Amino acid sequence: MNSCIVGLQWGDEGKGKIVDILAENHDIVVRYNGGANAGHTVVVGDDKFALHLLPSGAIRPNIICVIANAVVVDPETLLEEIETLAQKNITLTHRLLISENAHIVLDYHKKEDRLREESLGKYKLGTTIQGIGPCYADKVGRSHALRMCDLRDLKNLRAKLHTITDYKNKIFAALYNSEPISPDKIFEKCKSYADKLLPFTTDTTEFLHRSIAAGKSVLFEGAQGTLLDIDHGTFPFVTSSNSSALGISTGSGVPVKMLDKFIGVAKAYSTRVGAGPFPTEQDNQIGQYIRDKGSEYGTTTGRPRRCGWFDAVAVSYSITIGAIDSVALMHLDTLTGLNEVKICRAYEINGKEISFFPANTTKLAQANPIYETVTGWQDDITDVKDFHDLPTNAQNYVVLIEEMTGKPVTIIGVGPKRAQTIFR
Ligand code: GDP
Ligand code: IMO
Ligand code: MG
Repeated sequence: MNSCIVGLQWGDEGKGKIVDILAENHDIVVRYNGGANAGHTVVVGDDKFALHLLPSGAIRPNIICVIANAVVVDPETLLEEIETLAQKNITLTHRLLISENAHIVLDYHKKEDRLREESLGKYKLGTTIQGIGPCYADKVGRSHALRMCDLRDLKNLRAKLHTITDYKNKIFAALYNSEPISPDKIFEKCKSYADKLLPFTTDTTEFLHRSIAAGKSVLFEGAQGTLLDIDHGTFPFVTSSNSSALGISTGSGVPVKMLDKFIGVAKAYSTRVGAGPFPTEQDNQIGQYIRDKGSEYGTTTGRPRRCGWFDAVAVSYSITIGAIDSVALMHLDTLTGLNEVKICRAYEINGKEISFFPANTTKLAQANPIYETVTGWQDDITDVKDFHDLPTNAQNYVVLIEEMTGKPVTIIGVGPKRAQTIFR
């Protein structure tokens, strides 16, 4: 059985928690998109892990972790993560595979990301400043790109770094009046990355196909969420990779035909970090209640997340383009204590009622949500293990989400811990 976990909103849905739980029934967990812009939280007992590049299956000692082709690897962050896990006696030796085709994020990408965002002022995208956009831009531009396999040929790498920094430094000086970056400094870092990361670097596409043919089961872990997908999200307020289920094949080299189960993860409300339209946003006391109760602050950047009601129009769109079979609904506990809870069932745009998520972001920015309001629940649900033990109003809320999205909610999160999960 090969499955995937994909975010159905704007990221931070709780993918890390679900991947960690479902990894128990798989042999391999694969990250197929994005980079260290991701922050996936796994809570095990008193330990809390924030993973940026390692698949969230890493915490389980028998899981093989794959970082596939379309991930942009920041070697510094990855090495820090490996070290952090080692300090907790979790070793990645012989069970981490990094694609030799994966592109590398270097200091000049992060610098470019920061300078561009600063220069945009109020028009900034609100990126994570992890160099994601500039690295993917170099990948598509080809001539200035560096991949993991380039760490194998240091002589050539040094020459390439000179060409790249020569070009980048001209841009830094001309557009941003900023200090040049030294190719030699970056080269020295790359030498150390080569020593430490080449032992993990291989042809992951060949490995995945061989493993699937041998009957191993693979779990694909999406980063970000469908609405941040470069081709299918709320452009330009998106990330630079295919963060929907559509990115699995191109990202990993495994055709979606080989996947059996598509699980979408959504929060019981909505959050978004960074700029861009967010029709159900509650920039008010309700939003603050959700932020405080759900600890809605970025795992990667610490920024407060924008919070709002569940948007069934947006989630249904993500379900449609991802061919999602079932939904994991997280953070139901966070809504406890509200007198009433709302779900957006349609938008009103220019006087017309629309139930399909508009492709045009300008249109989305004009959308007025049309809500269905349900009565809230007051009892603490963080220890509930069975759906039927939830307060009736909480059950009704979940059922209404199922009706509006047309898919079963098979997993419900009632807290950050593994045990705080209801299976149906
Ligand atoms: P990801 O990027 O999708 O993996 O999500 P993040 O880790 O960035 O953010 C989700 C946050 O919610 C983390 O702090 C999790 O520990 C926490 N979390 C996950 N599921 C639940 C849940 O059902 N209830 C509560 N209260 N917290 C949860
Ligand atoms: P996980 O995997 C939430 C957002 C940023 C910004 C936009 C572009 O933890 O769900 P980027 O740095 O990618 O160029 O930023 O995308 N973003 C995320 N938001 N969760 C994430 O990852 C995100 N990764 C990027 O806030 O709006
Ligand atoms: Mg996150």
